[in-house]
Amino acid sequence: MSRKARLGILISGRGSNMESLIRACAAPDYPATPAVVISNKASAPGLEKAALAGIPTAVVSPKEYPNRIDFEKQIQEILLNHKVDIVCLAGFMRVLGQTLVEYWSDRIINIHPSLLPDYPGLNTYQRALDDKKAESGCSVHLVTADLDAGPVLVQRRVPILPGDTAETLAARILEQEHIAYPEAVRMVAEKVLNSAPA
Ligand code: GRF
Repeated sequence: MSRKARLGILISGRGSNMESLIRACAAPDYPATPAVVISNKASAPGLEKAALAGIPTAVVSPKEYPNRIDFEKQIQEILLNHKVDIVCLAGFMRVLGQTLVEYWSDRIINIHPSLLPDYPGLNTYQRALDDKKAESGCSVHLVTADLDAGPVLVQRRVPILPGDTAETLAARILEQEHIAYPEAVRMVAEKVLNSAPA
């Protein structure tokens, strides 16, 4: 079996995008494998799902560190210990600092529930509804120092239907997220593996 790119998946909550990546990685020809799941919250339901799938997990709570630099140093140490090749932010609700983002440049990915550059930040569903948009969707993008502004790798669109609420729209977009994230990780993994020394 040829080498697979090792994923470090960062979560804060339910972890359904993490699960979509774990499912994709189960296919023999998928070019990536989950190496570690890290949460900034001990209560994140995704942690148990990762553990049940046999993936090492870690909690790095910002409350236990005097500042963001030390918090992120701990995350970095875990990523390096697990020989991670690609960092996947999957509902990770913290903005990462420049040092970490630059270290992983081109190998750190995020999924966002809007058609970027529309609606970076929070409350994407309600903002799309308020603007009476005909469609919305999700974007998987490389992470750069600017919030939700890195190059887009994959986008998937959904219609906004009469009577939609933030909840119904979120559910429709989430289905597409679960397709888009594995597609984007495949692209980055193939690139990383092709550029790695033999
Ligand atoms: C997703 O909607 C994702 O786009 C956003 O946060 C949510 C995380 O959901 N960044 P989950 O934890 O992956 O289920």
